[in-house]
Amino acid sequence: MTPRDRLIFALDVATADEAENLVRLLAPEVGVFKVGLELFVSAGPEVVSRVRRAGAKAIFLDLKLHDIPTTMRAAARSAVGLGVELITCHADQAGIFADMDLGGAKLLGVTVLTSLGGEELEAMGYPPELQDPQALVLRRAALALAAGCAGVVCSGREAAAVRGLLGPEALVVCPGIRPASGEAHDQKRVMTPERAMAAGASHIVVGRPIRTAPDPVAAAQAMVQGIAAGLAQVPPA
Ligand code: C5P
Repeated sequence: MTPRDRLIFALDVATADEAENLVRLLAPEVGVFKVGLELFVSAGPEVVSRVRRAGAKAIFLDLKLHDIPTTMRAAARSAVGLGVELITCHADQAGIFADMDLGGAKLLGVTVLTSLGGEELEAMGYPPELQDPQALVLRRAALALAAGCAGVVCSGREAAAVRGLLGPEALVVCPGIRPASGEAHDQKRVMTPERAMAAGASHIVVGRPIRTAPDPVAAAQAMVQGIAAGLAQVPPA
């Protein structure tokens, strides 16, 4: 895997045309394009093949499934049928898929959204010992591991602890990535690309810092440089 293969760009736009333009622009710099709820709901499932035709080498369909088992399994079958490389469900529900053949798709368990911090977890009713995001992330990462997920989604701040729990092969995918001088937007648990990779991330997810940059190609290239610099700090296994 090259540093570029580890950069996941979030196509958080409302139309397939906008998504295609971004893929054409950024395909030389980005390893994986992420189709999330906004694009999937507004443009429909055919957006996946349009993103592929525009040049995406790998596609991450980030629907963060969370529902009753029958609905989850049916939705996962449909998602896999679209021919994507990565799909997500909330990690506490990953067990629903433990005996399912997901074809060529890898399942990632979303641990705790990077927009949530301790205050939000308290307001949501978590007991004091799970109001520390890292504690809840590790609890859910263990569920994802037991369910046979290929990996998890967590913030860079938990990447080292999660890598320790899941071992060297797991995918540790980190959103909430910001350049050192970047704005956090609605993200709470943010980190630079370099630090997230040095801490044990296998991939980073970046949306706004590339999409809204004056020069998105240069911003993507800077992210790839950050990935390479972070990887150089990881001790050999
Ligand atoms: O624009 P920004 O870089 O904050 O984009 C973050 C992307 O990562 C969004 O597409 C969001 O859905 C996704 N994500 C996240 N936190 C998670 C999982 C996914 O922010 N825990």
